[in-house]
Amino acid sequence: MTTIATSTRTRVVIVGGGPAGLMVSHLLHLAGLDSVVLDNRTARTIETTHRAGILERDSVRLLADTGVDRVLTAGHRHAGISLRFAGLSHRIDFEGLTGASCWLYPQTDVFADLHRTRHRDGADLRYGISATEVHDVRDAPRVRYTDGEGRRHEITADLVVGADGSRSVCRDLVDGATRYFREYPFAWFGVLVEAPPSAPELVYARSERGFALISQRTASIQRMYFQCDPGEDPQDWSDDRVWAELQCRLAGEDGLRLREGPVLERTVLPFRSFVQAPMRHGRLLLAGDAAHTVPPTGAKGLNLALADARILAETIEAALAGDDLSALARYTDRALARVWKAQHFSYWLTTMLHRTPGASAFDEQRQLAELHTVVASPSGARYLAEGYTGWPEP
Ligand code: PHB
Repeated sequence: MTTIATSTRTRVVIVGGGPAGLMVSHLLHLAGLDSVVLDNRTARTIETTHRAGILERDSVRLLADTGVDRVLTAGHRHAGISLRFAGLSHRIDFEGLTGASCWLYPQTDVFADLHRTRHRDGADLRYGISATEVHDVRDAPRVRYTDGEGRRHEITADLVVGADGSRSVCRDLVDGATRYFREYPFAWFGVLVEAPPSAPELVYARSERGFALISQRTASIQRMYFQCDPGEDPQDWSDDRVWAELQCRLAGEDGLRLREGPVLERTVLPFRSFVQAPMRHGRLLLAGDAAHTVPPTGAKGLNLALADARILAETIEAALAGDDLSALARYTDRALARVWKAQHFSYWLTTMLHRTPGASAFDEQRQLAELHTVVASPSGARYLAEGYTGWPEP
């Protein structure tokens, strides 16, 4: 029999200390509810794993309204993006079309801000643990794990939040769940480069050689991506080869040239759409990537995680304040309404801008016609702008 070194009682145990888990913990704290946050990774690993960098209007509001407001001074407000195809850029004016903007602010910074805030508020955060086991989520949740010194610990709670990312163990505890999948026959090659910005806003480009995205980070560091084969090996790509590919995909009659510099980091990003429903089973509730994954086109992943966290914290407050677990039953439908909109949006932007292997000449002309229609029609452009900046909660 294993000895348990410590046993802790809390209201909510949160498995996964990325942005979704930390935001749930932060919102519960503001509502006067204790939680314990567990994560296999160290905070340092999470903080240095580069992810997307766009926050929707309501994600920024949620952060700023709850005191996590560094985004307002350190982030960059973007009032639009460029769609680039057939060698020319077309601006989509979010501000003019919808009155909303988005913010360029990397996920690593969102994590660091939430982590600092929870730490300041005295949260019980346990990173770098292993062998996490979640038991009895129907009636009396209990989570056990091993700390860095090899000792076992136990936490009992009223509820468990599974915010343990795309390789979630919590999601497997939802009996009878339906899983929706879509695989894409391509991936993204992501680079972090040391160079000045090449454009004031994000450029989403469709080219004969496939998709490319120009994003930014700071005055001297930029983030860029290009569509690649899922089996591509980052080590096969010299700096020169990366730049030649990007320049070629952005080239056009307006003479656009990217500003080059050393490639600091290169990674191939997986590309798939996934949803698991329901997002709740007994006293277990899933949030963020544990329940759904979107392809990175449109940067919806973090925004969905934060939207889940907000809905989830409200649901938990209602359930625990009134001692009425039936309030938990509404979580899945509320969260999934937004998740499916974002699934469609990411899929739509992806298919409109990527080259599908084996696409016919008809498919390519149809794709170009769709892009022309979106940029030429205020209704088409507004549809894109509303999705990109995030649909307000009804
Ligand atoms: C990023 O800046 O990393 C980024 C921005 C927009 C996307 C994806 C990634 O759609």
